[in-house]
Amino acid sequence: MIEKRRIYLDNAATAWPKPECVYDAVDHYQRELGGPNGRSGYLEALESNRIVERARRSVAELIGASDPLQVVFGCNGTDVLNLAIRGIVRPGDHVVTTVCDHNSVLRPLRALHEDADVEVSYVPCDGLGFVSPADVRAAMRPNTRLVAVIHASNVTGAIQPVNEIGRVVRESNAFYLVDAAQSLGHVPLDVRAMDVDLLAAPGHKGLLGPLGTGVLYIRPGVEREVSPLRYGGTGTQSDEDRQPDVLPDKYEPGNHNLPGLAGLVASTQFLIDETIEAIHSHHTMLVERFLAGLREIDGVTIHGPQSTANRTSVVSITVDGYDPHELAAILESSHRIQCRAGLHCAPRMHEALGTTAGGGTVRFSAGFSTTAEEIDAVIAELEQIAIAVVR
Ligand SMILES: Cc1ncc(COP(=O)(O)O)c(C=O)c1O
Repeated sequence: MIEKRRIYLDNAATAWPKPECVYDAVDHYQRELGGPNGRSGYLEALESNRIVERARRSVAELIGASDPLQVVFGCNGTDVLNLAIRGIVRPGDHVVTTVCDHNSVLRPLRALHEDADVEVSYVPCDGLGFVSPADVRAAMRPNTRLVAVIHASNVTGAIQPVNEIGRVVRESNAFYLVDAAQSLGHVPLDVRAMDVDLLAAPGHKGLLGPLGTGVLYIRPGVEREVSPLRYGGTGTQSDEDRQPDVLPDKYEPGNHNLPGLAGLVASTQFLIDETIEAIHSHHTMLVERFLAGLREIDGVTIHGPQSTANRTSVVSITVDGYDPHELAAILESSHRIQCRAGLHCAPRMHEALGTTAGGGTVRFSAGFSTTAEEIDAVIAELEQIAIAVVR
């Protein structure tokens, strides 16, 4: 029996496949190097140091950061968002976020609300999932310490006006955090244009690296306001039992995920060579085709932006007569079409879209290697599934 080829449309969860060079880089590190970084002086250990610094340099280049030392590494998007949020917010502060944000932002804030009297305001969005800078301004208070905004929604693909929101935040003393988990590597972005203090992203989604890395950009000087969450050995200032106060050691105790960072060096170089602009254009072509096909199918509702403007490759739908999980299971079991159903760790986003009671949506997220033929195959299968209900 010939097995059907999988059509992987879950890149918003984690990118797959990775570029070939990523597999080679991980394999090379694992087989040929295997050393720790920042600790020992032999050849392979020094090469490990270079891997970490190369990863820092390429991430800095991709986000427009002038100093690579302002990029710190963590374990995933959630880890670096926790560092940004819990590191900067103090008891009794006020924080502004949006209903579009992910649980990796909402849950640390909820915990701070319960444990440290932090007040949180949730900026609403319009029917397509866009937040307005004026509403962010209206939510701010004199004691607002942090404004945390998702750049691109992991549910609708809507890209928020983060540069304009940055200008609003700059009118105050608040710090500005952008969750770029669904945008970095998907759309060109620049930390200077956004005027952000903190920008967090995983290394395994748009950056196309292996699972197990996260990156946090910290604007020069803002590190004085961000307490570390983890303490331990850095291989530096080992005569003291106090954590070094310098970047990046302040936030990077313990051994790094070297296989992950070796892969990230290769994947970020791939993005620099291919260009994020070209990847975004490819996604836009796929989304245009997908939306046009979906519009022709009776019973399909597209949630979020209805055109290719201001959006990523994430497309969320519901189909009349189907529970989202059932639909995703049919697509996987009969056709090896792989997507994600449910609430996507974004409870307030689904409340805003009115999709909570129905069990959320089915989310498709194309990647750099997704083809137009794959999108056509998904449209054809959805047509058959929707027709089955009409009958
Ligand atoms: C918008 C957003 N923020 C944060 C995260 C958390 O990233 P990670 O899974 O690497 O912890 C995700 C992952 O789904 C996300 O989509």
